Amino acid sequence: MNPKILTANAGSRRECKTIAVIDTQFGDTGKGKFVDYFAEWADIIARGTGGANAGHTIQVGTEEHIFHLVPSGILHKGKINIIGNGVVLDPRVLCEELAILRLHSIDYTGRLKIALNAKLVLPQHVVMDRFREGCDRNGKIGTTGRGIGPAYEDHYRRIGLTINDLLNRSLFMDKLKRNIEEKVRVLKGYEPALIKKVMAHPSLGEGRFYCPKKIFDINEIADAYTWYRHNMIELIEDTDTLLRNAVGKKRVLLEGAQGTLLSVDYGTYPFVTSSDCSTEGLAKGVGIKTSDVEKVFGVTKAFYMTRVGGGPFPTEFGGEKSAKWCGSKATREIESKQYRKANFKTDNEFEFGIAVRRAGNEYGATTGRPRRTGWLDLPLLRYSTGITGRHLILTKLDVLSGCPEIKVCTEYEYTGPSIQIGQSLLKRGDRIGKAIPATEILAHCKPVYETFPGWKEDITGVRSMDDLPAQLQELIQFVGIAAGVVIQVVSVGPDRSQTIIV
Ligand code: IMP
Ligand code: MG
Repeated sequence: MNPKILTANAGSRRECKTIAVIDTQFGDTGKGKFVDYFAEWADIIARGTGGANAGHTIQVGTEEHIFHLVPSGILHKGKINIIGNGVVLDPRVLCEELAILRLHSIDYTGRLKIALNAKLVLPQHVVMDRFREGCDRNGKIGTTGRGIGPAYEDHYRRIGLTINDLLNRSLFMDKLKRNIEEKVRVLKGYEPALIKKVMAHPSLGEGRFYCPKKIFDINEIADAYTWYRHNMIELIEDTDTLLRNAVGKKRVLLEGAQGTLLSVDYGTYPFVTSSDCSTEGLAKGVGIKTSDVEKVFGVTKAFYMTRVGGGPFPTEFGGEKSAKWCGSKATREIESKQYRKANFKTDNEFEFGIAVRRAGNEYGATTGRPRRTGWLDLPLLRYSTGITGRHLILTKLDVLSGCPEIKVCTEYEYTGPSIQIGQSLLKRGDRIGKAIPATEILAHCKPVYETFPGWKEDITGVRSMDDLPAQLQELIQFVGIAAGVVIQVVSVGPDRSQTIIV
């Protein structure tokens, strides 16, 4: 760890004590590697948003495991890991992850703490999520099906349950009944066979919670949650107070989830997740103030980017064809059979996108879906760094080695119908330098590209900026200037050592 990057500004010498690692795009930028990188420095690692929709692959012993809820710092001995109040926590998933940790003799007691006011995900949330995504074709967001949206909705509708409710049986039962009544009223309008089918999903205990008469078997749910409670009880704490007291004294690392462009408040609404993935959302979700965060590292994939699920993506390789393909039942296996020969030299944009996906291993850690791929989009980056701040970590630079040319989207040409935005009228043919996150606008933004020569060399062994191919150095410099950001770190491979401080 180079302490130089932990100062707030170039001129300052003082090391920041509270830092955040935030994704500036649509998630999956390789944030996990840097959470792990900074975890070595930190005393406390805390998550504050999202839930089991996130997924990070971690090497545990000799095996690789995908974790969704446990913060990435858990493998670092002696570090405190916190799941904050803003997280929607599915105890079923957490208990699975705890079992993996125990299997590998990783002692987490006293080190893993769950906010007593984190939001509880219940089977009915998963049911509602899957139901909506499957039945409402017009409104398909392409969610991860983990109950994230419905759990947050219940919080704002004031009928949600918290982790602390697990500790008080009769309170839990009362709140559970009330919460379920409301879901049953909605589901009563649907075919019972369809409900039964949705509830037969493995993540819903293969029909364990289904009751033909009442839709939900409350006693089964209560039994399952009693068992989870037994597994988690020692971990539940007032982590808000713990973190507030730690700020300024301990080294605190906040781990973002998803990405700024998926934030419910700042993202490409409605194709977003249901939490605020920005620094504000994250700080609040661990119980501290945004102003407590002294430095934010915005993690940005370059020189391509990805998106999972629906929503606008102006620079997507192969445009609609790619979006459709990635939203179908396509998998890594199907793709490697059907498009075995896809490569960087092809003239077919859609196949080029597949080649990039394969080179970058861009398949969802949570759902296995192929991630949509496209060129780096500076209008979106200008927009998101306007929210998260200017300090960037560029990741996955090694993926496009051998690509004949690299395109960077520098602005958009608007091609849609006239639309009023505040006091100005956006018209066909107008240029847009900083993206406007509304779907109805982004859907009509045609990227304008600047083309750069690619590089042939394998860069995974490079450890200093000067040793990177000249073409790549020029590209990095170009992005810094054109997007008005300060690139502090570049990543040339998944390993912690494959990191270059600029
Ligand atoms: P939800 O978070 O499951 O409600 O899904 C809402 C949208 O966010 C969908 O487009 C998902 O694909 C996307 N999404 C949720 N979590 C992640 C993530 O960790 N990485 C990338 N996309 C995500
Ligand atoms: Mg991920």
